[in-house]
Formats: sequence, structure tokens, C-alpha cells
Amino acid sequence: MSNGQSGAGPAINGRAYPFTDHIFDVVVVGAGGAGLRAVVGCSEAGLKTACISKVFPTRSHTVAAQGGISAALGNMGEDDWRFHMYDTVKGSDWLGDQDAIEYLVRNAPAAVYELEHWGVPFSRTEEGKIYQRPFGGMTTHYGKGTAQRTCAAADRTGHAILHTLYGAALKAKAQFFIEYFAIDLMMDEEGACIGVVALKMDDGTLHRFRSKRTILATGGYGRAYFSATSAHTCTGDGNAMVLRAGLPLQDMEFVQFHPTGIYGAGCLITEGARGEGGYLTNSEGERFMERYAPSAKDLASRDVVSRSMTVEIREGRGVGKDGDHIYLHLDHLDPKILHERLPGISESAKIFAGVDVTREPIPVLPTVHYNMGGIPTNFHGEVLTKLNGDPDAVVQGLMAIGEAACVSVHGANRLGSNSLIDLVVFGRATADRCIRTVEPDSKHAELPKGASDVAIARLDRLRHASGATPTAELRLKMQKVMQSNCAVFRTGEVLEEGKDLIHDVWSGTDDVGIADRSLVWNSDLIETIEFDNLISQAVVTMESAVNRQESRGAHAREDFPDRNDKEWMKHTLAWADTAARTVSIDYRPVHTYTMTNDIQYIEPKARVY
Ligand code: FUM
Repeated sequence: MSNGQSGAGPAINGRAYPFTDHIFDVVVVGAGGAGLRAVVGCSEAGLKTACISKVFPTRSHTVAAQGGISAALGNMGEDDWRFHMYDTVKGSDWLGDQDAIEYLVRNAPAAVYELEHWGVPFSRTEEGKIYQRPFGGMTTHYGKGTAQRTCAAADRTGHAILHTLYGAALKAKAQFFIEYFAIDLMMDEEGACIGVVALKMDDGTLHRFRSKRTILATGGYGRAYFSATSAHTCTGDGNAMVLRAGLPLQDMEFVQFHPTGIYGAGCLITEGARGEGGYLTNSEGERFMERYAPSAKDLASRDVVSRSMTVEIREGRGVGKDGDHIYLHLDHLDPKILHERLPGISESAKIFAGVDVTREPIPVLPTVHYNMGGIPTNFHGEVLTKLNGDPDAVVQGLMAIGEAACVSVHGANRLGSNSLIDLVVFGRATADRCIRTVEPDSKHAELPKGASDVAIARLDRLRHASGATPTAELRLKMQKVMQSNCAVFRTGEVLEEGKDLIHDVWSGTDDVGIADRSLVWNSDLIETIEFDNLISQAVVTMESAVNRQESRGAHAREDFPDRNDKEWMKHTLAWADTAARTVSIDYRPVHTYTMTNDIQYIEPKARVY
């Protein structure tokens, strides 16, 4: 077998599926910020590295990140990685692993300077330093002052980073497989990952990628919900592959609602808007955040702001003819500042809400934005599972980074701008791990017979699905159930109903039907595979939410309003049996220790802003 060689593949139901085989040291699935950073590191070190992406790399969802990337540079006033650590632990509502959080915040400044040196066009201060703005939950002196920690390229930071990283990856001579859709992992009999099977969408050919390390950088699954800031491509394909491989996902009940999605359209209005002085009002013109978070006000943590907005609407103080949203004001800010620092959202507000931000408030609503849960990993990016009582057992050959992963640095609630830094810090950490543990161009073990059969059987089943229900109908049902039954506020009753409803949708997949049987640019087939990926994650999310009987971070149970550290300071692990359509749940302990002795474990306390 050699690189790019074609061979006979399995025949499923009498249909032949010939393969092209590829051999790499490292295969990265996904070309967002995390995937590209890993690709650059591995390629520069001489590892033969492939990057597989279902979209052109610069269309990955990182491009939509607006407000910035956090790092305690101290360019705009005092700052320290220890303050960043404290804020992140508190933001996580003490569900984050403190060793991983220390790793993140200590490596953050170097990761930002690296991006600067590679050419990211950051906004600048008068002295030419990287401009930093305040973001929610970011403080100095352990909650006392306000930190300006979020490094920004106007309000197009993700765009600037993604384009720079793609350039760096091309320079490092990484090999890209663009518009290849990864269908499933290949696992050996010992449970190690040995590669991935993908469909080249433009010509319908099938490809087997052998690799010593497969890195899943496939992003979140925001599209399980009806209204999300996530791109339509955010279907958590890697998470679903992990579930099908019989491995667990972690902390899936924690879904972040961003306070300021544009009402109706769902597009993001960056938290940077409030960082630059924007504020929220209700129908009485009141700046209500002063009541809920007297100190941080509009810059409280996202879960707190989203819940406060929801309470205002519920209690009859929403704005608009149906009283069902809130206003975000920027109209008091200097138009020059808006033009310089928030040009992108000024344009979005005009296009999607018909609003001139220099004169009118933007109608906004909490909107699904980020998944704290995902594939459990350590801070080297190695995927973990619970095996023979070991809660941190490493799955050989498999790694995960970015929103797909749950390291867990964000715990129950992520702070704004901690996502972009997570991408590059752990993208780099994972590359470093590969460099230390993979011998370049060393021989691969023989591919076990039938290694790709599971992937192809699934592809064939969906391609020839001939039920009566179109994919779009099932997808809409799933999105509506998630939106109404697994929302900002939750109760046991509503979640139990949601569990029944989402299982009905899952069963409904037996009756899915697609019209086009071709393998060439078949969007009906691709959307069906994506839906199949989403539904398993939606079910696991709902079941994990029913199961967790406490309120913590983004998981707000009205029937269990308090955080319960005694019983619930633990990570949820959820496995899905996709054949039997059942979910099982177990737990991993939270790491209540730091990485070094330079900082002590931050003890839990009440989380007020
Ligand atoms: O509001 C924002 O700009 C989003 C940033 C983030 O989710 O980190």
C-alpha cells in the first residue's frame, strides 16, 4: 500500500466501494484554528501531515469569531496569568480541570505572540502594542478590577487568525484534502485509532487515510439547535465518530447561549460590543444588568447575562411588539470608535436587523453559541476514556482539539475569548505531543481486514435510505426539541419531555429517505450524514442534562437551583449505543490540582459578578 494507491474496497449489498489509500504520520480532520495550528506544528517538524476538511479551510467556522483572543499580555494595564486562571476557573463554575487551565493561561501569551509573528494583523495601541479590550468575567486581582485581556483584530479576529494559519500551513507544506467529508474512524481490535475513511465530495471517490495519530478538530455541534450563531457546517462530525467508536463524550449538558445573537437571524454580535461600552436595556429603558451583576454589570459571565435577559423577557420587560427580546445600545459610542473597532457587527446589524448602530439599539436574544462538552482529552490533546476503573485512560492514536474537545478548560461555562486561545494553545500542544511520540515516516502496521467496513456500511445505508421522511423534516424536529426543551433554563419535567421527544426523532431516522443515490456532490446525502451525526449528540446532550440534578454554569435547573459540589463536582461521561439507541452515563473526577506548584488549587466559592 502506498500513498494515493487505489485498491478494491468492500462490497456492501452487492455494491462495490473501491478505495484510494493514503499513508501519513498524522491526519488532522478539520481546518479551523485548532486543526491548522496542529497541522503547522506537525508539518514544520517533518511529520508527514494531512489535513482533511469538508469546507475550504478559510471557510471553517473560526472565521466567524469576532471579539478576540485572551492572553494576559498586560498591554492596556496590569495583568497576570494567575488572574486569567482565577477568572477561567470561576467562569467554569469549578468544573474546569485546573491543571489544564494552568496550561492554557500560562501558554496563552506565547501563542498570541506567535500569531503576531506569523502575521495576524492585530489592532494596535498608540505605542504599537496589540490592542486588548475587556470581555465578560475577565478581572484583575482575583475579581477586584477589570482586565483588558482580549487581543483583537477589530471585530474580525477569527478571520485574521484563520487566514494567517492557512498561509503558515501552506508554507510548511502540509497536504490538504479539501472538500473531503470524513465518514468514520478506523479502529483496530485493541481499540486504537489507525486512521479515517473519507468521501471526496466532488467526484464521489472514497479514501482511506492511515495515520499514527488522528487529530479530530471538527468543531462544535451548534446546529443541533434551531437558533445558533454557528455555521451550518457545525455538526460535530468528530464527536459523533467518537460515539460510534464506542467512546464517551464529556459534559454535553453544558451548552453556551451567547447573550447577543441578532433577534430573528441568530448572527453574532460580539461581546466586544459590550467591552467597548455597549449596554443592554429592557422595555422600561432600564440597564437591568446592574440588578443581576452589580459589579460586572453587562460584562458578567455569559451564562449570567443570558439568564438575566431571559428573566427580563419572562417577567414582561422584553422589547419589541411581542416583548420577546432585548436591546443592545451602541448609539452612545463615538461613531469613529464603532468604525474602527466594531465595523463587522455594524454591518451585520444593518444587514440582518436593518439597524444603524450609531442611532438605534440592536434587537438581541440569547442564542446557542458554543459547546463546552465534547471529546474528553488531557492537555496534550490525547483522547481519554474510562477503562477498568481508570478515568484517564488514553485512547491510543486518537487526539482531539478545539471545540470538539473537552480538555476541560471551560468546565460548565466558557468565558468569551477563551475559545480562540484554546484553539491555538492546544493545537500547538497536540502537535508537540505528536512530535515527541511519532517517529516520522516509520512503518504502519498492516491494516486489519475489514477496518473500513463499518464506515462504508453506514455510508451505504444512508445513501440508499428509502423511508418516507425527508432529512430536513427530522432535522427541524430535532432543532425545535433542543431549542425548547434544553434551553437557558431547564426543569426535570421539561427535560424528561425533551428526552422522549428527542428519542422519537432518533427512532424516526429508521424512516429517513433521500432522493439522490449518487456519490458525486450529493448534498442530500451529506446533509443526511450530518444529521445522523447531530442526532446522536442531541440525545446525549438531553440525557446528560436530565441526569445532572444541580445548577452549574450554563446548566440552570430551576428545580435544583444551587450548585452542589458534594455530589456533582464531577464530569459527566455519556456513551451512546447507536444500534440499540440507548445512552449510558458514568463520571470522571474533576482535576482538583494544578499543573505546577506556582499556583495553588483555587477553592470553590459562590460565583457572583
Ligand atoms: O462575542 C464574541 O466575540 C465571541 C467570542 C467568543 O465566543 O469567544
